[in-house]
Amino acid sequence: MADQLIDSEIIQRITKKKKQLDSIRPLSKSALQKLKERFAVEWTYNSNAIEGNTLTLNETRLVIERGLTVKGKSLREHFEATNHKTAIECLEGLARIKEPLTEENVKKMHAIILRSINDTEAGIYRNVRVRILGAVFTPPDPVKISRLISELFKWLNSAKMHPVELAALAHYKLVRIHPFSDGNGRVSRLLMNLILMRCGFPPAVVLNTDRKKYYDRLKKADRGNESPFADLMAQAVERSLDLYLEALEPVKPGEEKELIPLRDAAKGMPYSPDYLSLLARQGKLGAIKISRNWVISKDDLKKYVEKKKSKS
Ligand SMILES: Nc1ncnc2c1ncn2[C@@H]1O[C@H](COP(=O)(O)OP(=O)(O)O)[C@@H](O)[C@H]1O
Ligand SMILES: [Mg+2]
Repeated sequence: MADQLIDSEIIQRITKKKKQLDSIRPLSKSALQKLKERFAVEWTYNSNAIEGNTLTLNETRLVIERGLTVKGKSLREHFEATNHKTAIECLEGLARIKEPLTEENVKKMHAIILRSINDTEAGIYRNVRVRILGAVFTPPDPVKISRLISELFKWLNSAKMHPVELAALAHYKLVRIHPFSDGNGRVSRLLMNLILMRCGFPPAVVLNTDRKKYYDRLKKADRGNESPFADLMAQAVERSLDLYLEALEPVKPGEEKELIPLRDAAKGMPYSPDYLSLLARQGKLGAIKISRNWVISKDDLKKYVEKKKSKS
């Protein structure tokens, strides 16, 4: 594939894990339902927290799963949580139909995200100039939005590249156009996941704990280097694949795919825990982050050690 954006080792691991997931289809309905619910909460919590919402993961769960309210939190924050859940449900419908993606899909998602929060701007492109907080780059003039969005969808429906690259790039391109006065980040992450889900991938969650890294890599993309951003999105995809596989795949004898803390996994390995966590951050191991901790399956770690041995 020409001009590969994502680190080839990450792509190889993702491709393999995706094949593994496909090989165990049809997936257990009840296990899949549990995973979907778990991801709806995680995705909603993280996407909204990146945007400034102060509901915690557990509060988000109470609001979207049980319809409860949290004392001291604003009505807006509650709407942001329930709207995001509704947007995910809408997305699941869109992921099943195989027609080309359209501008209307994005507008519809935005309309849901801002519902009851800013109804006059929900689903409508901005007509003012905006700046992105902390970015040097200034999004395009409002008169250009319509044309840029058409170009984006033309590209999206014809580009030939790995779906994870396509999804990551689509996210970046949309957030760069910044078509709405607010909600661009959430809608771009929804679009990225719509593309992934259409290709049979689980949704990727950009963790709030990675917010700084996410912003730094968006800045690098603004300067013309989209690879670090695409790598971060690919790591998020791998994380979801690992969690899906752990929950869905029947364990084969001798396979150790249970996720254990990296520190424990380091025991008896020729590497120090600090070195392993460096490798994890660089995406070299296939380790994933749950809350603030890196975890990995013994299988992935073994594979890394064997690969290094065979190279040296
Ligand atoms: N340097 C940057 N270049 C492009 N996009 C950026 C940059 N920094 C942040 N962003 C994007 O802008 C989003 C914030 O825009 P905003 O419209 O407020 O969306 P939301 O309300 O969903 O957070 C971030 O989530 C991120 O995706
Ligand atoms: Mg915002």
